[in-house]
Amino acid sequence: MNLTLRNMRSRKSAREFTSELISESDLQELLEAIRRAPSGKNSQPWKLALVQGEPLEKLRSALCEKFDAGEKPSPDFDSTLLQIYRGRAIDLGKALFAHKGIAREDKEGRKRHDRANFELFGAPQAFVLTCNREHVDTTLMDLGIFAGYLMLGLESLGYSCCPQVSSASYTDVYHDVLQIPETDAVAMVFPFGRALPGSHVNAFNTTREPVENWFRLVK
Ligand SMILES: Cc1cc2nc3c(=O)[nH]c(=O)nc-3n(C[C@H](O)[C@H](O)[C@H](O)COP(=O)(O)O)c2cc1C
Repeated sequence: MNLTLRNMRSRKSAREFTSELISESDLQELLEAIRRAPSGKNSQPWKLALVQGEPLEKLRSALCEKFDAGEKPSPDFDSTLLQIYRGRAIDLGKALFAHKGIAREDKEGRKRHDRANFELFGAPQAFVLTCNREHVDTTLMDLGIFAGYLMLGLESLGYSCCPQVSSASYTDVYHDVLQIPETDAVAMVFPFGRALPGSHVNAFNTTREPVENWFRLVK
């Protein structure tokens, strides 16, 4: 099978990583490839930060502090679950909890599961995707395509990530720790690294709607 298509099919979210950092050569190769992402009128509205080391630990602990305090998140982008897709989200949650052996009534287990998002899944590094706060709907299309390039680029270099909006929701933490200007909004976070071999959580596989549910040929 064609390599690009194979990477599209093999990519999946990872939530447990080794401590290996991305190499300088892989990083440069990745950046040179993803900068080719298309965008409306070639606007290229994305900004990307790679966070490692001390700033990453600061980020993790500040996010967890807010999560533990039960602070209400204030995301820059709305991620309200739409009623029409609710069933799919519920199915995903049920399947993931079943895979992790977390029972419905296990409040502590569920909290630990949620907290892992704010721990950035213990990843040794994370990409943080931001853009100008002033944006139009197509900016989000551009960011989505860029995020797809990023995830497939990582996959093709043998790295895995978990695209996240949950941990991006305490935006003030990102502004403080990464010195992101107030004129910019935090869109997504991608904790990433080498997927931990033998990891149980990483063995989780998601399903997809059959093609005929969303594709039709018009001719
Ligand atoms: C925009 C976006 C936001 C997401 N936010 C989270 C998140 O906060 N936490 C998480 O564990 N996974 C998150 N995911 C991962 C999705 O749950 C996952 O991509 C989906 O279930 C399909 O599984 P796969 O990535 O393994 O193919 C997010 C994915 C996307 C594209």
